[in-house]
Amino acid sequence: MEHAVAVSPWVPLAYLVAGVCFILALRGLSSPVTSQRGNRFGMIGMAIAVVTTLVTHVPIDSNVTIFAPTPPLFGGVIDAVTVAEILGAIGIGAAIGLVTARRIAMTAMPQLVAAFHSLVGLAAVLVAAAAFLNPVAFGIAQVIRPIYGPDLVNILPVSRIEMALGIAIGAITFSGSVIAFLKLNGNMSGKPILLPGRHVINLGLLAGILGLIAYFVTDQSPWVFWTITVLSFVIGFLLIVPIGGADMPVVVSMLNSYSGWAAAAMGFTLHNTAMIVTGALVGSSGAILSYIMCRAMNRSFISVIAGGFGGDSGGGAAAAATDRPWKRGSAEDAAFLMQQAEQVIIVPGYGMAVAQAQHTLREMGDKLKAHGVRVKYAIHPVAGRMPGHMNVLLAEANVPYDEVFELEDINSEFAQTDVAFVIGANDVTNPAAKTDKSSPIYGMPVLDVEKAKTVLFIKRSMGGVGYAGVDNELFYRDNTMMLLADAKKMVEEIVKSLD
Ligand code: TAP
Repeated sequence: MEHAVAVSPWVPLAYLVAGVCFILALRGLSSPVTSQRGNRFGMIGMAIAVVTTLVTHVPIDSNVTIFAPTPPLFGGVIDAVTVAEILGAIGIGAAIGLVTARRIAMTAMPQLVAAFHSLVGLAAVLVAAAAFLNPVAFGIAQVIRPIYGPDLVNILPVSRIEMALGIAIGAITFSGSVIAFLKLNGNMSGKPILLPGRHVINLGLLAGILGLIAYFVTDQSPWVFWTITVLSFVIGFLLIVPIGGADMPVVVSMLNSYSGWAAAAMGFTLHNTAMIVTGALVGSSGAILSYIMCRAMNRSFISVIAGGFGGDSGGGAAAAATDRPWKRGSAEDAAFLMQQAEQVIIVPGYGMAVAQAQHTLREMGDKLKAHGVRVKYAIHPVAGRMPGHMNVLLAEANVPYDEVFELEDINSEFAQTDVAFVIGANDVTNPAAKTDKSSPIYGMPVLDVEKAKTVLFIKRSMGGVGYAGVDNELFYRDNTMMLLADAKKMVEEIVKSLD
């Protein structure tokens, strides 16, 4: 029996170096200043891990197969894999990744991330299924040769737990991520779909999956394995379907965490320590990010894992009530007000990303500074459509990092600020989150822009709503002036007026 086991003593060392690179990558990615360096560490670590795995598992100069062609356990044939086939598959994957990354709009990034998570989940399912169908080839079975009758192949108990967990987490990640993709991509309504008794159904399914995993240790029958798989696909679907609108960002980061654990489970099945370490890093960093985002949105972490949070709070989209009185301003008015100000705080949101207004916005900031105005940027943790969305765009436009502040560091300053300049940010500035219990965003900390002397609010029309689909009380306040236009066009006009 031949196994795909790494033998060279250099392998653990190479994997250790790769692991250190991944930790440095995460460290670097925690700040926009060091993020490029972090990305490079990630790429180096991944290159070391992939090359080490390839050269130590496959004798490059021959046609020797990675997996011994032992007869599969439960029917079906697992073909031998050659280096050429692996390189071909890597080439196809890399080409698809390259084209997608180049074509994708910044605003479509969250759904791309969700789609990638689904692929990790699917990979975990396929690896676990392959290991179950041919455990001897994966080196996870004991073969007993009786004098009479066929060989008995017993999957090792620890491997049964690993593969069952792998297929369960992988399947949950896959179906959950597909639903998240469809919702974020607009193929499915972003509104919560609430099944009656869904918590009881989910708890029942979870108990069923855990029970079957425990039973699988004593009985490796195919029905147990495939039932775990089907139930996990179903629970992944049911966990994400009830989640609506504003709560989607936490779900994406939670699925990111799940995909890490799915990869770690694959690492156990494939005896690959680099994969276990990398999966655990992704899993725990995703969980930490979800926790931070839950705190930022005032959601309970447990309710995210359990699914279905954010759905009980109404969630219905309310069209903006345009019959209430509101004030409209022009670019000239805005330029005049800001020129007179001592301090202006700019609040960017999804609309700035859509309009790609970040470069013109920086230009406006530079002009105001030249007029002696103090300019700061306030970033809400879930502004835009992905974590760090606004930071990335402002960094792309070379906005100085020391002018960019997180919610908790700047919120107290609005009360002493002359102008809050809101550009395409809606939900993250909505005061209803603080007062209106029936609002789907109730409880989410928001930027206190209404406390500034004047609020300048750019959006295209009074009818448009933000991601959560609710009207914004701010539009009708006495100190708010609406600047209705495409964000980039409006800022360009303001820049002209400032000249
Ligand atoms: P939103 O509440 O979505 O509001 C966007 C605003 O931009 C709308 O008022 C829209 O109004 C305006 N807008 C759109 N295109 C525009 C353009 N070309 N020019 C000018 N204005 C434009 O954005 P936000 O305040 O950034 O809040 C983010 C929301 O997304 C939160 O509810 C958050 O939970 C959710 N979300 C966040 C993430 C992450 S991780 N950040 C992921 C998924 C969902 P008009 O249509 O009238 O122009």
